Amino acid sequence: MMVTSHKPAVATQEGWDPMQYLCFGDERLRPALDMMARVKLTAPRRIVDLGCGPGNVTAILKQRFPGAAVTGLDSSAAMLEKARLAAPDCHFVQGDFLTWGPEEPPDLIYSNAALHWVDQHATLFPRLLSLLAPSGVLAVQMPAMHKAPLRTLPYFMGPKGPWAKHLRGVASAPDILEPGEYWDILRPRAATLDLWETVYMHALQGENAVGEWATGSSLRPFLDALPADLRAPFRTAYDAEANREYPRRPDGITLLPFRRIFIVAQAPP
Ligand SMILES: C[S@@+](CC[C@H](N)C(=O)[O-])C[C@H]1O[C@@H](n2cnc3c(N)ncnc32)[C@H](O)[C@@H]1O
Repeated sequence: MMVTSHKPAVATQEGWDPMQYLCFGDERLRPALDMMARVKLTAPRRIVDLGCGPGNVTAILKQRFPGAAVTGLDSSAAMLEKARLAAPDCHFVQGDFLTWGPEEPPDLIYSNAALHWVDQHATLFPRLLSLLAPSGVLAVQMPAMHKAPLRTLPYFMGPKGPWAKHLRGVASAPDILEPGEYWDILRPRAATLDLWETVYMHALQGENAVGEWATGSSLRPFLDALPADLRAPFRTAYDAEANREYPRRPDGITLLPFRRIFIVAQAPP
């Protein structure tokens, strides 16, 4: 099936469900750990986890750097409530990373699977780099899935069902930039820049596995926009399309190829 995307520019930020998001905790955590291996700081004093969500990465940052004061920032009250339980020795604040500024320059700004929820990356990324202490590190991981059926299907289905009038103008996360564009934006401003992509072959179990995955993240703005009686039919229709695009294998596993971009930039001394 040809899937075309016609995405409006506005993503909804409310309605995060920490439990649904954590259903695939291992798969969602792995890129955060892979990126941490490339952060060469030895003893950062201040760390900020931008878009900390349920706090699982925040807690790991505190374990890896026990001497650091670790702050998690997120716009979702539900996520922050979960985060305070997951990482009681960290500090959490509600805020928007488009307008956030630290009281004191952090040595590490870490952001796993969060910054793709906003656009304006051409200004946001240099601004984040400029907020760091000398030789501080900006480490960002984002899904690069805007061209994959997982993400394009809701736009394809949106105008074609009883839900059409509710989904007009609704969007999930905007498209991110190409790797080379992040290079061009950050390289002139950074002392070092490490940029890479990885495609994880997530082996998902259970029926409608891709639908379950999407319900914890990219499908959320669409489901939130629907009246209660249309949510289940929309999800069923999404499952049918997703199961065609990502068929379950004879062993019961559904493989979800998941591309992610990683950016580790060090500020000048
Ligand atoms: C996919 S979750 C990632 C959570 C966590 N970093 C992790 O790796 O598990 C994305 C998080 O970004 C937050 N978020 C989205 N837009 C935001 C914004 N403009 N400002 C602050 N947080 C935002 C959401 O509330 C959500 O908790």
